Amino acid sequence: MIRISPSILAADFVNLERDIRTVASADYLHVDVMDGLFVPNISIGLPVVEAIRRVTDMPLDVHLMIDRPIRYVERFVKAGADLLTIHVEADTFAHTREALQLIRELGCRSSLSLKPATPAEEAEALLPLCDMVLVMTVEPGFGGQAFRADQLDKIARLRQMIVSGGYACDLEVDGGIDSRTAPLVRQAGANVLVAGSSVFRAADRAAAIDALR
Ligand code: DX5
Ligand code: ZN
Repeated sequence: MIRISPSILAADFVNLERDIRTVASADYLHVDVMDGLFVPNISIGLPVVEAIRRVTDMPLDVHLMIDRPIRYVERFVKAGADLLTIHVEADTFAHTREALQLIRELGCRSSLSLKPATPAEEAEALLPLCDMVLVMTVEPGFGGQAFRADQLDKIARLRQMIVSGGYACDLEVDGGIDSRTAPLVRQAGANVLVAGSSVFRAADRAAAIDALR
C-alpha cells in the first residue's frame, strides 16, 4: 500500500491549521526541521511541532535535517512525533545507531535518511534499527526543486536490502514528487511518498493526494 505524506514546508504558515485540514485524507503529515547547519536553511522547530500536535490526529512524520540529532531526539518525540527521521550524514555511526535505538525506546518509529550523494550501503548495517528509510530525491534544504532520477537505482537497491534482510521497514522518498515522478519511485520500490509543492499548490489537494497513490 502506498502512503502519502504532504510536507507542510509548502503550506501557508500563517494558516497552518487550515492548511493541515485540507490534506487530512493523507496518511502522514511531513514536518521539515532545518537548523541552518546541516542544511543551508532554517525552517521550524519544537514549538511548531507541539502546536501542530494539538490540532491534528494525523501521524506526524518529522524529518530532522539537523546536525547531531541525538541531542534533540527525546524532545521531538515528546513534542508529538510519531515517526522521527534523522540523517546518516549528521553524526558518527555510533551516535546514529544510538539515536535510532533511543527513538524506538521512547515509543516512536525510527527512520534514517540519505542525501543524494550517500550510497545505500551507508544504511545497510542500520536497517535492523529502522522502521523506515528515507531517500532524498533532491538535495535537502528547500522545497520546489526538480526530482533527481539518479536516485531511482538507490531506491531499488534499498528495497532489495529490505526484502532480502526480511526487515519490516518502509521506504520513503522526499523531493520533487508529483503525479509524473510518483510512478517512477513506486516502481523502484518506494511505498511512502512525501510531497510538498505538488500537493499544496494544487487547486484540489485531496485529488492531488489521490493522484500520487
Ligand atoms: C526538502 C524537504 C522536503 C520538501 C519537499 O529538504 O525535506 O520535504 O518539503 O518539497 P517538494 O515536494 O516541493 O520537493
Ligand atoms: Zn522532508
